Amino acid sequence: MTKKEQIYEGKAKTLFSYDDDKIIQYFKDDATAFNKKKHEIIDKKGILNNFISEFIFKYLSDNGVENHFIERLDDREQLVRKVEIIPVEVIIRNIATGTLTKRLGVEEGLKLKKPLIEFTLKSDELDDPILSEEHIEVLEYAKKDEMKSIKEQALIINRLLLDLFSSINILLVDFKIEFGRYGSDNKVILADEISPDSCRLWDKLSSEKLDKDRFRKNLGGLIDAYKEVATRLGIKIQ
Ligand SMILES: Nc1ncnc2c1ncn2[C@@H]1O[C@H](COP(=O)(O)OP(=O)(O)O)[C@@H](O)[C@H]1O
Ligand SMILES: [Mg+2]
Repeated sequence: MTKKEQIYEGKAKTLFSYDDDKIIQYFKDDATAFNKKKHEIIDKKGILNNFISEFIFKYLSDNGVENHFIERLDDREQLVRKVEIIPVEVIIRNIATGTLTKRLGVEEGLKLKKPLIEFTLKSDELDDPILSEEHIEVLEYAKKDEMKSIKEQALIINRLLLDLFSSINILLVDFKIEFGRYGSDNKVILADEISPDSCRLWDKLSSEKLDKDRFRKNLGGLIDAYKEVATRLGIKIQ
C-alpha cells in the first residue's frame, strides 16, 4: 500500500494517512527542548527511536497492554492504529528530577514513596501547563472514566517498564505517554511513542544519562546513549 498525504508535522514525527483506521508515524531526526527554543537535527535519532519504540510497544502488548502499534514498515516508519489523541500528557515519575524539583523544590534524585502521576496540557503555545484531574474533567479534555483507565494503564506500564529496564541495568526515572480514543467504542489505548526521547533512563551503576537529557543539558553523546539502550534491549538495527 502506498503512503498518502502528510496529515501532521510534529516536533519529532510526521504523520501520514494510510486508510480509515490506520496512519503512518515517520520518525524524524529533529531534537527539540524547552518548547522548541532549542532545536537540532541529530543524525539517525529517528531510526533509533523507531526501533526502540517498536520494541517497547510490542513488549507492552505481549504483557497485556493494548496499544496503537501494528508493525514497523521500515527504518523510520511504523503503521499504527489511528486514534483521537487525548490532549493530556501523562507523566509517571519514580525518582524526582526535572520540573518536579524546579517547581516544588523537591530534592533532586529523591526516590518517591510511590509512582507519581502528573498531567499536563498538550499545548506548545501554552508550554504544556500542569493540569489537575478537576481541570481535565471540568474543561472536558477527558471523561472521568477515561482518566480512571489512563491512571490504571499508566501504573501497569510503569511496572512493566521498570522491570524491563531494570533487567538491563537501567533505572527508569520518569517517562511521558499519550493516550487516544480508538474504534467505535472509543476505547482508550496507549499511542504516540516510548523512547529515550520521552523517558529518563539512568545507568544503574554509573548513573550516566541515557536519554534526551543529554541534549537538554548539552552533554553530547546522545546517539551513543540511544544505541546503548537499543543494544542492551537486544535490538538489531539492520
Ligand atoms: N495513533 C495515533 N493516532 C493519531 N495521532 C497520533 C497517534 N500517535 C501519536 N499521535 C500524535 O502524533 C503526533 C506525533 O508527532 P510528534 O512529533 O510527537 O508531535 P508533537 O510535536 O505534537 O509532540 C503527536 O501530536 C501525537 O499526539
Ligand atoms: Mg510528541
